[in-house]
Amino acid sequence: MIKVITTIEEMKKIIKDEKAQGKSIGFVPTMGYLHDGHISLVKRAKAENDVVVVSIFVNPTQFGVNEDYDVYPRDLEGDKARSEEGGAQYIFHPTVEEMYPYGYQTFVEVFGITDKLCGASRPGHFRGVTTVVNKLFQIVSPHKAYFGLKDAQQVAVIEKMVRDLNIEIEVVPCPIVRESDGLAMSSRNVNLSETDRQSALVLSKSLFKAKEAIEAGIQDAKAIYLIIEKNISEEVSVHIDYIKIVDFDTLEDVTVIEGRVLIALAAKVGKVRLIDNIIMEA
Ligand code: PAF
Repeated sequence: MIKVITTIEEMKKIIKDEKAQGKSIGFVPTMGYLHDGHISLVKRAKAENDVVVVSIFVNPTQFGVNEDYDVYPRDLEGDKARSEEGGAQYIFHPTVEEMYPYGYQTFVEVFGITDKLCGASRPGHFRGVTTVVNKLFQIVSPHKAYFGLKDAQQVAVIEKMVRDLNIEIEVVPCPIVRESDGLAMSSRNVNLSETDRQSALVLSKSLFKAKEAIEAGIQDAKAIYLIIEKNISEEVSVHIDYIKIVDFDTLEDVTVIEGRVLIALAAKVGKVRLIDNIIMEA
């Protein structure tokens, strides 16, 4: 039976005991409302470690004032069942007060790559992410931590933090999991109306068209950008936040598609902000 741990003290003790028995720890940090994308991370963690911990914590410090913290979907019972099915032994589910007690004043910030893409439209977002991930890393102290590449920038930021702060945890990036019609799985998809859910398909479709064009030999980043923009603009209820074609490592814009390139986008569909991307190796 999966165990739900709510205090930092108990979580740390469990990890200490498991490690004392020589067990390796795999960690899947999440904000809950788990979908198959999350479960693919849990299964991978299970395959590569003795013990799997899933954290479920909707982290207030990574949401801006006008963002969706209050309506972010939550379902602990469903998450327990799904995590257990995936092979996890523990869920770490602290309260906000447990993570950020009165007087809390310490933040961890990666500079540079956090100013771009989602960082440009969500100031402070990555500071909240790196702060909470750092805290979770201190508490769970895993050997390996698993992150989905739907948030490719988040993976890059966490990898940078781990390198810069000499954190001895292996970050394992895992592929995007999509619905059968191509929509990238996201906990936020549940907040889409039926018609917005249909409109949102244009995001993955436009990325797939870009992929086809690159595979057909187009290397000009501007031409690829225009293919994506034209496709998305045809859906009136989809409002582009950004479309970026960047070097995967530096997140700097590229003009020619060569090497490892990240094509990432963010858009508002109705009231829901969605992100998606593809990674091309040209
Ligand atoms: O990707 C997420 O769900 C969150 O940003 C994370 C990594 C769990 C930190 O709150």
